[in-house]
Amino acid sequence: MSEEEKIVQYKQVGKNNNIVLITFHRHKDLNAFNSQMLEEFEEVLLKIKQENDIRCVIITSEGKSFVAGADLKWMSTLNEENYNDLIAKGQVVFELIESLPVPVIAAVNGYALGGGMELSLACDIRIASSKAVFGQPEVTLGLAPGWGGTVRLPLISGLGVAKDLILTGRKISADEALKLNIVSAVYPPEELLDKALELAETIASNAPIAVREAKKVFTSTFQEKVKEGYRKEQDAAKPCFASSDLKEGIDALFNRRKPEFKDN
Ligand code: CAA
Repeated sequence: MSEEEKIVQYKQVGKNNNIVLITFHRHKDLNAFNSQMLEEFEEVLLKIKQENDIRCVIITSEGKSFVAGADLKWMSTLNEENYNDLIAKGQVVFELIESLPVPVIAAVNGYALGGGMELSLACDIRIASSKAVFGQPEVTLGLAPGWGGTVRLPLISGLGVAKDLILTGRKISADEALKLNIVSAVYPPEELLDKALELAETIASNAPIAVREAKKVFTSTFQEKVKEGYRKEQDAAKPCFASSDLKEGIDALFNRRKPEFKDN
């Protein structure tokens, strides 16, 4: 497959060519993560991990969606074992973001829902377009967050806000995400990428060893908590996946109707 055909594309940018810009290209399904996209993303992150000259990474997309979560069409075709693998795979890939030696900025251009919001939470810094929409809508589908939302969101926004967002499944605007400390800045859509690059250049101009060591402290401090949370999310995924409410939730979403959950 040629580089242009890939879902996850990346290039080196910036005045010293030492910033990596990762963009997702699965616009038809609003950049929802399917298996190919997860594999390609992991491959790109592993490549970056081995590079010594990179100073910062930006993750973004174009259009109305950053990442609309896991691909629900693909998810509906999975059996229980495959579903557990999907949860575990996303967790490993997002942990890789934290384990990169350099800071990662999520430049959230549009929908960041479910796994898409969790992706942004695994990044070191989040900035957003004024058109971005955040949310952990899993419970509205019959799922519990599986890619670190229940552990990273409380660390970032506080437990009360995390419970509000995760238990209601409500979507919030970029401005509300700013008020809730989920993002550090909001910009007009046409300025988002420039602002992300500016931020990345600032980081890239700092002492590389010091930046790497500072990030390492954050990662190691919260690593155990994340791992423990991951295990608990895997346990929580099992009864959800086995329930008929999940089928109902996904069917209702795609048929644009209100789900009728039966608690089984
Ligand atoms: N998976 C697969 N396809 C998706 C998708 C998803 N998560 N989100 C959107 N799409 C598809 C739609 O099915 C539609 O495809 P078709 O044109 O083939 O019908 C296309 O993207 C455009 O979507 P809409 O027509 O729905 O666009 P909209 O502007 O009316 O609504 C939206 C946008 C609010 C994001 C809506 O699409 C939506 O709610 N999507 C689901 C988002 C979601 O719930 N994500 C969480 C998934 S669960 C998860 O991520 C758990 C985990 O961590 C493992």
